[in-house]
Amino acid sequence: MADIQISKLVKLYDNGYTAVKGINLHINDHEFMVLVGPSGCGKTTTLRMIAGLEDISGGEIAIGGRVVNAVEPKDRDIAMVFQNYALYPHMTVYENMAYGLKLRGMTKAEIDPKVAEASRMLALDNQLSKLPKALSGGQRQRVALGRAVVRQPKAFLFDEPLSNLDAKLRGEMRFELKTLQQRLKTTMVYVTHDQIEAMTLGDRITVMSVGEIQQVAPPTVVYDFPFNRFVAGFIGTPPMNFLAGALSATEGGFAFAISGGATVGLHMEHRQALPGALGAGRILGIRPENLSHAGFVPTAASATRIEAKVEVVENMGDHQYVYLRIAGHDAPVVMKGSSHHRCAAGETIPVNFDTTFAHVFIDGGDYARNLTLPEGFAQQQ
Ligand SMILES: Nc1ncnc2c1ncn2[C@@H]1O[C@H](COP(=O)(O)OP(=O)(O)OP(=O)(O)O)[C@@H](O)[C@H]1O
Ligand SMILES: [Mg+2]
Repeated sequence: MADIQISKLVKLYDNGYTAVKGINLHINDHEFMVLVGPSGCGKTTTLRMIAGLEDISGGEIAIGGRVVNAVEPKDRDIAMVFQNYALYPHMTVYENMAYGLKLRGMTKAEIDPKVAEASRMLALDNQLSKLPKALSGGQRQRVALGRAVVRQPKAFLFDEPLSNLDAKLRGEMRFELKTLQQRLKTTMVYVTHDQIEAMTLGDRITVMSVGEIQQVAPPTVVYDFPFNRFVAGFIGTPPMNFLAGALSATEGGFAFAISGGATVGLHMEHRQALPGALGAGRILGIRPENLSHAGFVPTAASATRIEAKVEVVENMGDHQYVYLRIAGHDAPVVMKGSSHHRCAAGETIPVNFDTTFAHVFIDGGDYARNLTLPEGFAQQQ
């Protein structure tokens, strides 16, 4: 068991590209930490430096209090599970799981109970004599997990381990991984670009972009209090709507005038930075679930009704995404609601903009600070 302390970590590749730009991150003992971010942001590079598979160009990594910069991968006592399971095709499930222990010089009497326990935990106990080719994708991924589990490492590192599986199996494996972590209580670092995996698996999520950390916090905090515009737009499906306009003070509150369109009242819980942010060149961020069809949903005190034209309706069964055109705004605005709130393309409908959980950003690029965070809110939690 071990915590992982990453300090001012830099990766400069031979071609001169800096893939990781001096990140600081503390992963607690027993924690399930998810690294998430768009393709190329440096997730795999960071994970490989923790594993020792990639040289560190600057900074320090300590595992369980020991600086490992110069420690060989095999001596770091951590296990890495990859997206492609990399099983030995000519070995049975038992042999695949036992192989690493055998290399360490363990006897069969020592190995057997470890493989038995791991295979029971992963529901592979009836598959031990099979070759990998006789297994399903999910079973193969479980063997890869089992191979890591039997070693009882201080930490597990996962690089998109479920991305080769279909949606149903992914759901099952998510459940198994979470159960496994609760049982083993081992530190886990998990790289993904799947939002659902990040939200459901992580005790905390680290959101990365172009080699830098944008926010570290529990999933619900990242969702409700995105630190900047990048995080606000990256976490959430469909993504948050961003509307350009001007912020003004009203009697006892604030209002946001969408450029060339309607004005909505701002009834936010957290808005202490707003008085300093009045003026034009502002961005209102509002999530699809905070818009609703006012023909079906009463307009709450925290909401403003505005007219919108329906462009496309995507029915997902229990809910639907409605793409709306509102005056003054070029891109469609997405509303998420019950699929019983019927509407059709071409129709003009009244829409509630509920701003309780909306956000305001200065229109200053992709990483503009969120001005609606609670007082004293920190980027890392
Ligand atoms: N060996 C290398 N030499 C030079 N640049 C590299 C090398 N490996 C990766 N990079 C670059 O470093 C950046 C980070 O790559 P990395 O693989 O860590 O991204 P990632 O976040 O894991 O992305 P993905 O989600 O696509 O797996 C990318 O721009 C990539 O092109
Ligand atoms: Mg990667």
